[in-house]
Amino acid sequence: MMTARRFLWTLLLAPAAPAPAAAAKVELVPVETARSAPAARPALQPTLGAPLIAPLAAPLAVPAPVPAAIPAAPAAQQTVIPSAPADPGAPIFDGDFGDKTSLAEAVAAPDIIPEWPGRTGDVARIAGRTYVLGERLGAVVQANGHGDYEGTNPVYRVKDQPLVVKLIHPGFKEIGLFGGERDALVEMARLPIAHSGLVASSADGLVLVKELVSGVSLRRVTEAGPLSPEQRAALLEMAALYVSLGRTADLSLTNLVWQEKERRLVLIDSGGFDFAQPWAPLGQILSRRNLFGIDGAGFLSALRKRLGPDSPAWRAVETSARSPAYQALLADLHDRGRR
Ligand SMILES: Nc1ncnc2c1ncn2[C@@H]1O[C@H](COP(=O)(O)OP(=O)(O)O)[C@@H](O)[C@H]1O
Ligand SMILES: [Mg+2]
Repeated sequence: MMTARRFLWTLLLAPAAPAPAAAAKVELVPVETARSAPAARPALQPTLGAPLIAPLAAPLAVPAPVPAAIPAAPAAQQTVIPSAPADPGAPIFDGDFGDKTSLAEAVAAPDIIPEWPGRTGDVARIAGRTYVLGERLGAVVQANGHGDYEGTNPVYRVKDQPLVVKLIHPGFKEIGLFGGERDALVEMARLPIAHSGLVASSADGLVLVKELVSGVSLRRVTEAGPLSPEQRAALLEMAALYVSLGRTADLSLTNLVWQEKERRLVLIDSGGFDFAQPWAPLGQILSRRNLFGIDGAGFLSALRKRLGPDSPAWRAVETSARSPAYQALLADLHDRGRR
C-alpha cells in the first residue's frame, strides 16, 4: 500500500534518486561492544506518565460491527520486528573510547555519516558514539514475490544494541513530514505518547538513532484479520490521547507496532507529528475501520465516553468535522442515540 508520504517521495525525488548504495565512504573505527555496565538511560519504556486523560482500570470496549466473537489475530504471536536483547536498558556508551584516550576526545571526534541509503556493516558515529548498522528493518515480501521495505527511508537495526539508525534522504530535509522528525521526537519526549524515543541525531537531523521497538506491525496484525478486543481498546486509547493533546501523526499501518504484553500501540515513525484538529488522527483511524473491523459510530460512541461527553476534547470532535464523510459518522452516532 502506498502511503501519502511514499507517493510524495516518488513524485518529488524518484527522478533524482541517487545511485544504488555505493560502498559507504566511512572512516573505519573500532567497533564498540555492549557491556553490562550500570544502565545510563532508562529501559525502552516510552514515557506514559501524566496522561491528560485518566487511565482506565479496564479497557473500554469498542464495538465491532458483527457482535460475534472476533478471532484473535493469529499473526499477533508472530514477531516481525526483532525483539530487543535481554537487557534493553544497556547503556549505549560503554566507556570504551577506542583509540581515543578520554571521553572529551572521543566526543570531539567528528560524526561519521553513512552514505544514503546505507548498508549493513556501515559505521555511523554520532556525538562520539559509534553505531554499526545491522540488518535493514521492515523487509516485506510482496504478493509477486519481490522484496520491498516498509516506509521510504532506510532504517537499520544497530548491531549489539537495542537501537535503530534511520537514514532520512537528504532531499527530504526541507519537507517537514520527513525532515522534521528530529524536532517531533524532541517534542514527543515530553508527551505521554508511546513512541520510539530519540537517542541521538546528526547535526542536520537526517540521521536518527532511536530505540528499537519490538512487537508486530499493525500491517501484519490486520493482514491476519480484524483487531482483537484488546487491540481495539488500544486503538481507542491512542485516538483519545491524540485528540486530547490536539495532535496528529502519520498513523499508517507500518508506523504502529502492537505490543501484546503491554497491550498498546507504539508509534515508530514520528515524521508527520504535529498540532491538529481531532479529525486528523480520527480520519486516519476511521478510514481503515473495515480493515480494523470496527464500527465507526460505535468507535465514536466509545471515544465520547472515554473523553467525557462534556469535555472540550469531545466538543472539538463534534464541532470540527468538516468533511461530509465525518459528518455522516457523527450523524450516525446521534441517530443511534435517539433510537
Ligand atoms: N524503532 C523501530 N523499531 C523497529 N522497527 C522500526 C523502527 N523504526 C522503523 N522500523 C522499521 O522500518 C520501517 C521504516 O521506518 P519509518 O521510520 O516508518 O520510515 P519512513 O519515514 O520512511 O516511513 C518501519 O515501517 C519498520 O518496519
Ligand atoms: Mg513510516
